[in-house]
Amino acid sequence: MDKKALIRAAFAAQKFAYAPYSNFKVGAALLAINGSVYTGCNIESAAFSPTNCAGRTALFKAVSEGVHTFEAIAIVGGKADGTEDGKVTAPCGVCRQMLYEFAGDDFIVLMAKSETDFVEKTLGELFPLGFGPDKVLK
Ligand code: THU
Repeated sequence: MDKKALIRAAFAAQKFAYAPYSNFKVGAALLAINGSVYTGCNIESAAFSPTNCAGRTALFKAVSEGVHTFEAIAIVGGKADGTEDGKVTAPCGVCRQMLYEFAGDDFIVLMAKSETDFVEKTLGELFPLGFGPDKVLK
């Protein structure tokens, strides 16, 4: 896996973030097992709750094209004015749940500040004892 390229793709997607309410722009790049990369950004709504996170945008793009198996995701985020807390942007709980629908405990999550400065965790670390499809699809 080319982690730098995946992070670069997440930064490219971040530019398309539609975040006029939070001014917090997020980009994601999801690597499928077949090698394809699906990018996404956060898309906010004036009604707030319909807002879609970058990770889910990328996931939904992939699934809507028939791709269901994934290796890794890179996520980048930050305030549009450049102010930052020095911490990486981690996927929200809803995104963790949706990723778990299609990816297992070994799926890699790269939370990046730059192509070389990132925190790497597995989905199993971020979403332990997850409730997934194997529990329901018996
Ligand atoms: N956001 C994401 O896109 N991904 C995350 O994992 C965390 C939060 C977005 C949602 C909202 O548009 C903005 O960040 C502030 O919460």
